[in-house]
Amino acid sequence: MKIGIFDSGIGGLSVLHRARKMLPGAQFIYYADEKHVPYGEKTPEEIRVFIGEIFGFMIERRADAIVIACNTATSAVTREYRNSFSVPIIGMEPAVKKAVDLYGDEDRRILVAATPITIKGQKLHELVERVDTRGMVDLIELPALVRFAEKGMFESGEAEEYLRSALSGYELSDYGTIVLGCTHFNYFKRSFRRIFGEDIRFTDGNEGTVKQVQRLLPDREDTNEAGGTEFYFSGERVGAEQRRFIDRCLAQLDSVFDIE
Ligand code: DGL
Repeated sequence: MKIGIFDSGIGGLSVLHRARKMLPGAQFIYYADEKHVPYGEKTPEEIRVFIGEIFGFMIERRADAIVIACNTATSAVTREYRNSFSVPIIGMEPAVKKAVDLYGDEDRRILVAATPITIKGQKLHELVERVDTRGMVDLIELPALVRFAEKGMFESGEAEEYLRSALSGYELSDYGTIVLGCTHFNYFKRSFRRIFGEDIRFTDGNEGTVKQVQRLLPDREDTNEAGGTEFYFSGERVGAEQRRFIDRCLAQLDSVFDIE
């Protein structure tokens, strides 16, 4: 089984990281669209053009399924477009339903953090309207976190300063759960904890997305092909330095894996 996973950048490595644990025999192609990151501050029309190229790339390399490991890109593509491909396309949306199912009957509120495109998008508003029956969900755009992540500035003083100032209008003690509605935000779980307190919980779409791959390709799950991952930055095979950066990102994801 060969699975193509893509994101605007390194955020989707959080999905790859999870997928390698859940599908150890699978082969992966990871595509970071580094030429065009950040998607969250582009227009949906621009993003659709980038995605079209990436889908073509994955199909050429015979991916059995394509995972859009990016909430922003998912919010910009239509269902009809996704259905027009011969392989399953699995998208991601902020795990608001999971958060409401798990913690929605508590008194503390749920904060959905994502990029401006996702936060302004109709899909998220429809989702919140559908699942947030008690009115417990608030939204926040945190575009600069994507830039900090792309520079490898995980948990840096600058990133935390940005977070604190972006959150200055929010009563932090009101919140019990943060929905990581952008895959790049997984790198900052410890920073969120330092700001909101040690008991803040997280939900993300990583596990749900991989489970969806398992559901859609059930018969291929047990192939004993040699697993492995090819990495590309906007269509180019990554070089040694880029590979070191990717390894650093994966190590950071490993170190925050158990924070839930
Ligand atoms: N990682 C992406 C997401 O999940 C977006 C990052 C970007 O703005 O490019 O939304």
